[in-house]
Amino acid sequence: MTKEKAREILTSHDQLQVLDRFDELSDEEKEVLLSQISEIDWDVVDSVCEEEPAKRGEISPLSAVEISEIDKRREEFTEEGIREIRAKKVGAVLLAGGMGTRLGHSGPKGSLNIGLTRKLYIFECLINNLLEVTDMAGEYIPLYIMTSEKNHDETVRFFEEHNYFGYPPEEVSFFIQDMAAAVDLSGKLILEAPGRLATSPNGNGGWFKSLDSSGLLNDIHDRGVEWLNVFAVDNVLQRICDPAFIGATVLGGAESGSKVVKKASPEEKVGVLCLEDGKPSIVEYYEMTEEMRTSFDERGELKYRFGVILNYLFRVDALERHMNESMMLHVVKKKIPYIDGDWKLISPEEPNGYKFETLILDMIHMMDSNLAYEVVREREFAPVKNLTGVDSVDTARELLEKNGVTL
Ligand code: UTP
Repeated sequence: MTKEKAREILTSHDQLQVLDRFDELSDEEKEVLLSQISEIDWDVVDSVCEEEPAKRGEISPLSAVEISEIDKRREEFTEEGIREIRAKKVGAVLLAGGMGTRLGHSGPKGSLNIGLTRKLYIFECLINNLLEVTDMAGEYIPLYIMTSEKNHDETVRFFEEHNYFGYPPEEVSFFIQDMAAAVDLSGKLILEAPGRLATSPNGNGGWFKSLDSSGLLNDIHDRGVEWLNVFAVDNVLQRICDPAFIGATVLGGAESGSKVVKKASPEEKVGVLCLEDGKPSIVEYYEMTEEMRTSFDERGELKYRFGVILNYLFRVDALERHMNESMMLHVVKKKIPYIDGDWKLISPEEPNGYKFETLILDMIHMMDSNLAYEVVREREFAPVKNLTGVDSVDTARELLEKNGVTL
């Protein structure tokens, strides 16, 4: 893109300040900045001015296949899931493009060592969990790992240096998610360096589009993969491609499935599965009304009790059907480093701008059906979000040890 074209575009979006000191930049910096400008999704950037939050439809509770029922049918579910894996119809998608700002680890989140007497990396825990299933099935599962441009090289290097933790490299592919430009509180684009706009990964909701634009959807078709199990990097107890979960979803005739845990208390900050205008949907904890949070059913249980743990199963054809639909944009207030008039980098103490994200949980509402599958929290949910305290390295270690993992 030329400077003139950039000027024209920025003028039409009232963002010309980005070019204020363009002529002082090196050729390389100019090129980077112009290329960033050409990639801006203006629908996203302009949306910060539209204050109205999206209205939700009619919300009602959604039932789940609960643990008692799963226990009765575990063999049947597991056999079906194993059949799907052996028929090579299942793939796994690891979402590892996040910045992990709360954890504050300098490398990719998965490269954090949580071992005590030995090295045990988060990525290693996940691969170990996957290997349990592939050993049981006697068949490898293709693993697609989403990174962002901020952590891609380091993530790939980390896997190479550790020999993919024993997983066959030909079964592992990486793809890079898109970035979104950040704006300040008045909606203006921010420079984080003289020739670089502040950008951040655009949330985990764009994973399927990014998978497609990377060319890997062809690989999925070539291999005949029909189901994708998508999961977060930071749950070290994550069961990946759990045969019983796959089997229950297939036998239940649903086009997607979500692993859920019973909420620990009405106040717990997890998104809950529900029906919205008759379709499956997830309501985030901050969107729940007091009534939703504290309503009980006739069994004395919370009506909206099934919290999601970022482990979903999707039919590939259902994802393709909805791929071009626009997704709800989540605007998040954050501290965004920026350069001042003297080109000095400032790290703000308070949130000074907005980042834009789409979220995978909104994909559930695109699906015609979703099977909520309850799991035992202590066995399957140990998220590492913070260094200490709630959902931290400490709590994850405790849960790993309870599950027989040597740290
Ligand atoms: P989180 O919502 O916990 O975000 O991600 P985060 O970026 O990892 O951490 P904080 O909020 O900055 O502390 C949940 C999952 O979604 C992935 C993360 O890697 C994690 O597996 N994710 C998140 C992406 O892949 N891309 C994104 O843009 C955001």
